[in-house]
Amino acid sequence: MSVPHVSFTVRAVLPSDISAWCSLRRLLWQHVSDDDHLLEAQELLTDPHRYVAFIVLSDDNAPIGFAEAAVRRDYVNGCKTSPVLFLEGIYVVQEMRRAGIASALCAAIGQWGSDHGCMEFASDTQVGNAHAQALHRALGFEETERVVFFRKRLIP
Ligand SMILES: CC(C)(COP(=O)(O)OP(=O)(O)OC[C@H]1O[C@@H](n2cnc3c(N)ncnc32)[C@H](O)[C@@H]1OP(=O)(O)O)[C@@H](O)C(=O)NCCC(=O)NCCS
Repeated sequence: MSVPHVSFTVRAVLPSDISAWCSLRRLLWQHVSDDDHLLEAQELLTDPHRYVAFIVLSDDNAPIGFAEAAVRRDYVNGCKTSPVLFLEGIYVVQEMRRAGIASALCAAIGQWGSDHGCMEFASDTQVGNAHAQALHRALGFEETERVVFFRKRLIP
C-alpha cells in the first residue's frame, strides 16, 4: 500500500534546523527531555565524521521526517566488518507515511556511510515494531539477531 506521490526534500541538517529537528526527535523519543534533545542534537553536529542527521521538508518547508546515524567502531551485533554505519533513529510524521520518505532517508544515510568507509549498514528496532521491521526488510536489511537486554542495580 503506497500513498499517492508526494514531493519532499531530503538534506543533511544544518545548525539552523535544530528547532525543527528537535520537534521531530520529540515525536520519536518522547521519554527524552527537551533540554537533552537540544544537547544531543548539538553534540551530533560537532562530530560530522562520526554522526549524521538528515531532515525531510515538505513542499511548503514543513519538517516531516528525520533520520540519524553513527559510524560505530565497537562490535555491532551480526556484522562482520568495522566500522559499521548504524541507523540510530528514523521517523516520518504519520500523515506522510508510505510515500517513500524513510526509503529516501535510508538511501541518503547509506551513501553517507559508504563515503565514510563503512561496508555494512546496521540497525535495530523493538521486537513489536512491525512497521519498522517491514521497512527494514523492504530496504534489503536482513534480520541478524534478537537480543534481550538486562539490568541490575549495583548501588542500592
Ligand atoms: C517506520 C517508518 C519510519 C516508515 O516510514 P515511511 O516513510 O512510511 O516508509 P516508506 O514509505 O519509505 O516505506 C518503504 C517500504 O517499507 C515497507 N513499509 C513501511 N512502512 C510499513 C508499514 N507500516 N507496514 C508495512 N510495510 C511498511 C513497505 O514495503 C514500503 O513500501 P510500499 O509503501 O511501496 O509498500 C514510519 O512508519 C515511522 O516513522 N514510524 C514511527 C517511528 C518508528 O517506528 N521508527 C523506526 C524505529 S527503528
